[in-house]
Amino acid sequence: MTDQPEIYPMPAPKPNLTEFLRRRRSNLAKVMDGDGQGPSAAQLKELLTIAGRVPDHRKLSPWRFITFQGQARADFGQHIATAFMAAYPEMPHDRSIFEGQRLMRAPLVVAVISSPVECPRGTPEWEQVLSAGAVCFNLCIAAQSMGFGAQWLTEWYAYDTSVQKALGLSKTEKVAGFIYIGPVTQAPSERARPDIGALTHAWTDKPSA
Ligand SMILES: Cc1cc2nc3c(=O)[nH]c(=O)nc-3n(C[C@H](O)[C@H](O)[C@H](O)COP(=O)(O)O)c2cc1C
Repeated sequence: MTDQPEIYPMPAPKPNLTEFLRRRRSNLAKVMDGDGQGPSAAQLKELLTIAGRVPDHRKLSPWRFITFQGQARADFGQHIATAFMAAYPEMPHDRSIFEGQRLMRAPLVVAVISSPVECPRGTPEWEQVLSAGAVCFNLCIAAQSMGFGAQWLTEWYAYDTSVQKALGLSKTEKVAGFIYIGPVTQAPSERARPDIGALTHAWTDKPSA
């Protein structure tokens, strides 16, 4: 009897997932229905659990979530509006009302906070930040897999220090993204995609001609 190669439990191909990823687009927050039905409590729990299931060197979980639903969106909007007027005092009052309603665009907004930790074993902060980015994208994908629209935004308020204070961020934390999640009123149009060939080369140690 000949030696049989070891059979590994290879993952089964998932053509539906491949097709979804091939066509995937974000859904603009501005065409979400902020008054519509967002994820239920059970769905939110599942969404965040999936979002946290990302590559994370040395299992540091260097990120956390802050959720906004219902009245909390308008309440937090007051911090955004105040920050806006402080930063742009010359702008008309109407504009601060608009800014204060940003989170109202979707029934659920999740702030993903990059929260790097000192790692005694040396996982670089860069890798921890990348892991937070992976959380953001995984959350978008998970939300779309449940039939919601999703968009990853930062806009200006992610970088405003008074908004960061209202979020309770520590000195080492940053907003990786505000993920807007909810029903959509319009399908997204196609978006130009990069020429992947132009961005890729196969490494060789032979000097190019
Ligand atoms: C970190 C990060 C922040 C972003 N912030 C914004 C933003 O503030 N405003 C915006 O229009 N798009 C922003 N985007 C882009 C959208 O998330 C998204 O890429 C864009 O709508 C196109 O989506 P698609 O390529 O997934 O279809 C951001 C993307 C990333 C990765």
